[in-house]
Amino acid sequence: MTQILAVVGSPRQGGNTDLLVAKVAEGARAAGAAVETVRLGELQIRECDGCHACWRGRPCSKDDDMQALFPKIAASEVLVFATPVYWYGPTALMKAFMDRFVYFNSEANRRLVRGKRAAVAVVLEETHEQTWRPVVEFFERSLAYLEMNLAETIVVPGVGSKGEILKHPQQLEAARALGSQLAR
Ligand SMILES: Cc1cc2nc3c(=O)[nH]c(=O)nc-3n(C[C@H](O)[C@H](O)[C@H](O)COP(=O)(O)O)c2cc1C
Repeated sequence: MTQILAVVGSPRQGGNTDLLVAKVAEGARAAGAAVETVRLGELQIRECDGCHACWRGRPCSKDDDMQALFPKIAASEVLVFATPVYWYGPTALMKAFMDRFVYFNSEANRRLVRGKRAAVAVVLEETHEQTWRPVVEFFERSLAYLEMNLAETIVVPGVGSKGEILKHPQQLEAARALGSQLAR
């Protein structure tokens, strides 16, 4: 059974990112995967300050909720990174989460993510590609650097208000199909 860890980077509970990830999870579960969804807004994740204890074989020096997420990330076969666009970037929650992947940028820890499949899900109010492209590139470049395998990307533009994504059934169906792909 494929183990999927879905990470929601929006602080808005029940918002568009939550609804999109729920669809991905629905599709993945229907195809036989086990999915755990983590909402970063409910966790305390401090900023990486580059102390590099993790590069010297020590645990991350920040005693926060990321300590429980490191093993979950390592144990998952697929990681889903989901974020709304906030000022032409990911949310601060998602950026802080990604910054902590410095942990996996050491010789000893890289094997924990190398080759792991990933998917990216992005929602935004505007509709121009110039708005979401940098966010997708942020993930493409970061995950490639970490030698992860970005298998699927879904972008849902034109959704601003909470729950507006429900007016986009085709996009939700695409998310469900994406989840089903990830389960394989
Ligand atoms: C602080 C903040 C910054 C935002 N910046 C942008 C932006 O630069 N471009 C854009 O298209 N939408 C922007 N938005 C709109 C969100 O991307 C949009 O409302 C999205 O659907 C929120 O997803 P959520 O419901 O999962 O939180 C911003 C929203 C907030 C709260």
